[in-house]
Parts: sequence; structure tokens; C-alpha cells
Amino acid sequence: MVKPLIYAHRGASHYAPENTIASFKKAVEMGADGIEIDVHKSKDGYLMVCHDEKVDRTTNGSGYIKDKDMKELKSLDAGSWFSKYFEGERIPLLEEVLDLVKMENLLLNIELKNGPIFYENLEMDVVNAIKSFGLEDNVIISSFNHYSLLGIKKIEPRIKTGILYIAGMVSPWKYAKTIGADAIHPLYVTINKEVTKECIRNDIMVNPFTVDRENDMILMRNIGVTGIITNCPDIGRKVVD
Ligand code: G3P
Ligand code: CA
Repeated sequence: MVKPLIYAHRGASHYAPENTIASFKKAVEMGADGIEIDVHKSKDGYLMVCHDEKVDRTTNGSGYIKDKDMKELKSLDAGSWFSKYFEGERIPLLEEVLDLVKMENLLLNIELKNGPIFYENLEMDVVNAIKSFGLEDNVIISSFNHYSLLGIKKIEPRIKTGILYIAGMVSPWKYAKTIGADAIHPLYVTINKEVTKECIRNDIMVNPFTVDRENDMILMRNIGVTGIITNCPDIGRKVVD
């Protein structure tokens, strides 16, 4: 059996504020193979790494990312909500994360948050950023918006894509193939050994999310998944090594 890769979800977000450089560095420290991040676009067109459409939950600011310039977004504190220790963490730009990924030779799962707010040219901008760092082989792009994944393949077929979903899909490998995707990124409770086996037999990777309990990670490992997306990369490391 091949060892599943460990992707730290929003970084090691159980231990540090999600989607910050601190959480990505923590993931590296814990031995993650890669990190998962979420991408939106600022009013002036910068690619910003944040989970929600709004900054309210994870910063000291309020309002939509799409309505703010990069400078204003960068002035927000993205760490204090988690703990005083992380005061001063900032919302990263995608290029700052790409820089870290290159330096640490990490894998990177970029989730395009393209809906319910739709960002113009998000796919093209993300592809260009990846190419400018020469990280085409390190990245897999996922999204719940599968039209975005079609868009990515049209722009750059070399970049891998993964379909995000939370339903119990029938024959997801067949659907993945129809949109040229390389992986499924299912909610972990929706898959089993048979689905995983068929995906792999059809050259489709299986990277379930978000698996945080040790028992669930053992189950995922035993059914043969290719990657585990987790907030706790330390537990992931322990389970797969
Ligand atoms: O990529 C898996 C997972 O991140 C998808 O859901 O809401 O945590 O971005 P969410
Ligand atoms: Ca995500």
C-alpha cells in the first residue's frame, strides 16, 4: 500500500490561526507533505489566502475581501482571534505562500473559492502565479465550483485538479474523468474501500477532507487513499509513518 500524503488543512490550523504563514510553518515543523489553502481576490485584483468571503471571523476587520484593497487587507490582524501569541499575523498573498512552498519544497493544494462570490479571471491569475514560481508539479487545484476546474485545465492542462464534494457520489471517478480532473477531494465519510479502489484503478487520486481523528485517519489509510487533508498534520504523520 502506498503511504498517503499529509496535507495540512489551512496549515496546521488546530495549532495556529488558519491560512496564515504561522500555520503553514507549523505544518512544515510537524512534517506535513503539503498544505491546503483557500484563495479569494481583493478589490484591486490581488490573490488573498483566506477561507471565508468576509474577514470578520478570522481578523479584527469586517466586510468582504472583494470590497477591500490589498493594503487594507494586509493591515488586518489575522492572528489575535486565535490567541494573543499570534497577534500581528497577516492575511497572506498567494505569492507569499508560493514562495514558502518553493523554499520548503512542499506540495500545495489551492482551493479556489469561486462561489457564491465569483471572481473575474481567478483561474487565469492563479495559473499565472503558479507558473511564475515554476511550481506546476507541486500544485493541485481543487474547488466546489467544478466549472473553475474545467477552466484551469483549459488554461494549463499540466496543473492537476481535484473535485471537491460532500455528497455520496456514485462512481465519482467517472465524473472526475469527464471534466479532466486528476483527483477526488470528498468529504471523508462519503468514501469507502470500493470507491477508493476504483478511483486508483482509473488513475484518479483520492484526497479526503477534513480528517482529524486518529481512528478516522487509520480508516482512510487502510482503505488506500492517496492523501489525507487534516487540521492535525502531527497525528497524520504518526498514522502514516
Ligand atoms: O479542501 C478541503 C476543504 O478545505 C473544503 O472545505 O470549507 O474547509 O474549505 P473548506
Ligand atoms: Ca479549503
